[in-house]
Amino acid sequence: MQTIRLPFTGYQTSRLIFGCMRLPGAYADARLPIHAALEAGIDFFDHADIYGGGNCETVFGNVWADGVRRDEIVLQSKCGIRPGRYDYSYEHIMSSVVASLKRLQTDYLDILLLHRPDLLMEPDEVAEAFDALQSSGKVRYFGVSNFTPALLDMLSPSLTQTLVANQIQLSLAHYDAFDSYLVKGYGEDRTPTRGEGIIEYAMTNGITIQAYGPLGGGGMMRAEAAESPVGAKLTELAGEYGVSREAIALAWLLRHPVGIMPVLGSMNPARIASAAQATDIELTREQWYELYLAARGQRLP
Ligand SMILES: NC(=O)c1ccc[n+]([C@@H]2O[C@H](COP(=O)([O-])OP(=O)(O)OC[C@H]3O[C@@H](n4cnc5c(N)ncnc54)[C@H](OP(=O)(O)O)[C@@H]3O)[C@@H](O)[C@H]2O)c1
Repeated sequence: MQTIRLPFTGYQTSRLIFGCMRLPGAYADARLPIHAALEAGIDFFDHADIYGGGNCETVFGNVWADGVRRDEIVLQSKCGIRPGRYDYSYEHIMSSVVASLKRLQTDYLDILLLHRPDLLMEPDEVAEAFDALQSSGKVRYFGVSNFTPALLDMLSPSLTQTLVANQIQLSLAHYDAFDSYLVKGYGEDRTPTRGEGIIEYAMTNGITIQAYGPLGGGGMMRAEAAESPVGAKLTELAGEYGVSREAIALAWLLRHPVGIMPVLGSMNPARIASAAQATDIELTREQWYELYLAARGQRLP
C-alpha cells in the first residue's frame, strides 16, 4: 500500500481511505472488514455521526479491544446532517463530536469534516466551534465534504485552521468534477452543472480531494454492467495489469495529479484486498482518457 504525507497535517497515511458507512450488518463479525482493511495496509478510516444511525461508529469503537492502537490509525468523522436539515450551529457541531467520540471510544478525532453545506451556515460560528474543538484536543484537523469552491472561499477566511480535505462523489460513474475542466465545444450537448472548479480549486490550494463512492457505489462494478463500454474497458485493463477491475477503477482516480484519496466502501475482505492493488499500478495517460471517454460515452469537445 502506497502511503502519502497528508498536506497541512504531518500525517503519513495510506493512499486509500476505508469508508465505514456500510459496516454494521455486512458480516456476523461486524469488525471483519476493518481488519481486512488494516491487513491491506489501510490505516485511514472515514465515519460520520449519521452512518447506521451512529451504529457504524459504535462497531468501530470496539476495535481497540482487538489490539488496534489509536495512534497508528487516522480517524475521521463528519457532522452537520440532521433529519430534514443541515446544521452547523455551534451547539450541534460540539454535541455531534462529543457523541462521535463516545461511540468511537476515543478522546480525539484526527479530522472532522462538515458533511454537506448548511444553507444557514455562519462562518464565524463554525470558526468558534472549530477553535473550541481544537483547543480542547477533541479534533486535530478540519475539512469539508460536498463543498463548492465558492463555499470554501466563504468559510476559510473566518477560520484559524486550514481546511485539509474536501470529500466529494467522484468515480467513473460520477465524473462531473473532471467534466468541469472542459469548455463546451462543437457537438458537446452536455454542460457540466455540478463539480464546477472543485478539482482546480484543490490543485491550486493544496486541499486534498477524498473521493467517496469510488466504485460508483458498486453499480458499475456488478456483473450486469460488465458489457457497458466502461465495464469492458475495466475488464480489459484488469487483464493487462493482472489486477482486479476494482483496482483499475481506483487507479483511474489515483492517476490524477491532484492526488485523490479514494474512500473505499467495500465490506468484502477479498475485494478490499484486491482493490488495494490499485496503488501498485499507474495507468498511462492514454488509458486514463480511454476510461474517461468510455464512461462519458461522448467525444471530447
Ligand atoms: N461525504 C459524503 O457525502 C459521503 C456519501 C456517501 C459515502 N461516503 C463515504 O464513502 C464511503 C464509500 O462509499 P461507497 O460505499 O458508496 O463506495 P464504493 O466503494 O463506490 O461502493 C461500495 C459498494 O460497492 C459494492 N461493490 C464493489 N464492487 C462490487 C462488485 N464487483 N460487485 C458487486 N458489488 C460491488 C460493495 O459491495 P461489497 O461490500 O460486497 O464489496 C459496496 O456495497 C462510505 O463508506 C462513506 O465513508 C461519503
